[in-house]
Amino acid sequence: MASILYLTDLYYPAKGRTYYEEDIFIAGRLMDHFDVALCHPKNSEAFEDSADVIVFRNTGSVIGYKEIYRAFRERIQKNSLRTFNTFTGKADMLGKDYLLELTKLGFPVIPTVDCKSDISLLPASDRYVIKPKDGADSIGLEFLSDEELSQRHIADHVYLIQPAVEFEYEVSFYFIDDKFEYAMYAPNKTKRWEMVPYHASEEDIRFAERFISWNSISHGIQRVDACRTIEGELLLIELEDLNPYLSLLQTEKDTQEKFIVDLVSTLNNCLKEQTPEL
Ligand SMILES: Nc1ncnc2c1ncn2[C@@H]1O[C@H](COP(=O)(O)OP(=O)(O)OP(=O)(O)O)[C@@H](O)[C@H]1O
Ligand SMILES: [Mg+2]
Repeated sequence: MASILYLTDLYYPAKGRTYYEEDIFIAGRLMDHFDVALCHPKNSEAFEDSADVIVFRNTGSVIGYKEIYRAFRERIQKNSLRTFNTFTGKADMLGKDYLLELTKLGFPVIPTVDCKSDISLLPASDRYVIKPKDGADSIGLEFLSDEELSQRHIADHVYLIQPAVEFEYEVSFYFIDDKFEYAMYAPNKTKRWEMVPYHASEEDIRFAERFISWNSISHGIQRVDACRTIEGELLLIELEDLNPYLSLLQTEKDTQEKFIVDLVSTLNNCLKEQTPEL
């Protein structure tokens, strides 16, 4: 059997989510097909060379282990380690800069700039959101009135600045490689991690697929987070291509089964291929 080194943080204190339950479920199911060992990224180096593939899962925000993450990425390249996701992504795994690029390219994203002097490029708004580029888990995210924004010193290229979007709900689309698996949404705006299954229309799926096609993950799990504005359109909030939490245990049984079948299948394909050049 091929071997998997499954990276996770079973103790990660995520708001409203139980990372370890999801990973125990997924890792448990993978054990029917692979030899699987669970490990935290801080302890992985000693085992990396002996694993056929390293699966990067609910390891929490890398802000908590920046240096470990940097060194891990360096070893992937140096030792040609096979990973899932492949570390070829252009989105969250490199920080939040991609939102600037997608804004410039005219993708349906929350309009984003990274300097106060560019604020005129955003649609006029009386409320704004600022968030640190290397942030996650809403760390450092603040809502400001236009008055507060004009008075606040914000270092150029360190924060993203966006209009505060009024939305009906947040919805997430989950993909394995380029295949749409399922969608979930948060009907209660104040409890955004209380996700329930969402019936995505063809148009919704096409919206999400644009971001998956733009990105360059050859094998991996990605989550497209969007909001439905009060005007009814979808706008991207975040393309999570590093370690998206999947709310998998909140999906229906057949969705879970299909997800596991597709995951096993893509891992088998990944094992047959050359590791990508980084
Ligand atoms: N421009 C915006 N307008 C309105 N709400 C926003 C905006 N940006 C972010 N939010 C709200 O803040 C939440 C967190 O934002 P985002 O996903 O960009 O940050 P994050 O640091 O990756 O955090 P998390 O891991 O908590 O999702 C969003 O899910 C949304 O509810
Ligand atoms: Mg988010």
